[in-house]
Parts: sequence; structure tokens; C-alpha cells
Amino acid sequence: MVTKKIAVLFSGSGSNLEAILQKVHNKIFNNVKIEVVLTLTNKANAYGIERARRYGLESVVIEHTKFASREEFDQALVDEIKKHNVDLTVFAGFMRILTPVFTNQIKAINLHPSLLPLFKGAHAIKESFESEMLVGGVSVHYVSEELDGGKLIMQRAFEKSDDMSLEEFEEKIHAIEHEILPESIVKILCK
Ligand code: GRF
Repeated sequence: MVTKKIAVLFSGSGSNLEAILQKVHNKIFNNVKIEVVLTLTNKANAYGIERARRYGLESVVIEHTKFASREEFDQALVDEIKKHNVDLTVFAGFMRILTPVFTNQIKAINLHPSLLPLFKGAHAIKESFESEMLVGGVSVHYVSEELDGGKLIMQRAFEKSDDMSLEEFEEKIHAIEHEILPESIVKILCK
């Protein structure tokens, strides 16, 4: 049996981090075991730190505010990730735009709460809810130099009903996120 190691980066609540820990951490798919060996955040107060701790993982905190430039911060991320010899890096709500210092050195995937290439950027949920679109959805893609622009890995859509509130729409998005990100990890590492 082969073990594939992943790093998970997050900035906030960490519900997607928890979905990964629940669904794929130390689990075997097609004779491949997936292990989360690094949880890393740029926010010292991120609730995801507590969620990781419940699984015995003490998160590394690298605060972007402590660095003089984006490039220096990105290099610190790269150095930490490389220490763990991971097969894949997963952005689970990591709210930072990365420079080529990172994207040229690390193979990473990102979760985005819209059907890319539509609604890139930080307001995807609200913009897709307010749009004429009859569906909403979630995308997982490879991280590239272009924000939310890398090669698509998996997408899942749902019908936006007329009477749906923004809160209900957002709940549906998050429920799909918690499925599609673990599934994408398995698809990449275990097929
Ligand atoms: C998710 O909605 C993700 O799409 C966005 O940030 C949110 C992270 O949520 N990029 P959580 O921290 O995983 O709960």
C-alpha cells in the first residue's frame, strides 16, 4: 500500500479542512492511504486550528502580516510545505492571492464557490446568487498564477430556486464544498 501525503492550508473556520480530516485523512482508497501531514494557516485566530487539534494535528501559523512582501510570505509557505514532502497541497478556504514564487514551486488545488470561469474572486457566492443564472455551484481547480484560473478538476451544480434566500444558497454551496473537495483529493491521488 502507498501513502500519499497532503498539506491543507486554511484561513478561517476550517469546515472544509474538517471535511478532509473526516473523509480522507488516514483512509485508504484503491490501496492508497491519504495522510494530512501539515495543516497551515495565515491567521493565528483561525477556528480551523481547533478543528485540526481535535485530530491531533497542531497547525503551523505563518502570518502574512509579518512579511515585508507577498513574495517573502509565499517563500515561507513554500519552505514549510517542502519540509513535509507532500504529494499535494490543498487550499481549503485559504484567502490569499499567491505569486509565482508559490505557484511555480508547489502543486496545489483550490476550492471556489462558483462554477468557474464565472464569478472569480472573493465575492463569488453573492455575485452568483444575484446573477440571472438558474444554477449555482462549486469548482475545484489547480492553482495557477491566474486567480481562480487554473485547470478545472471537478465541478458540481445545483438549481437556484426562486424562493431560495442567500443564506439557503450559501448553505447549499458549503454542503457541496464538503463533498467535492475530498472527492477531488481522492480523484487526483488514488485513481
Ligand atoms: C469556503 O466557502 C471557500 O469556498 C472559500 O472560503 C470558504 C472557507 O470556508 N474560499 P471554511 O473555512 O472551509 O469553513
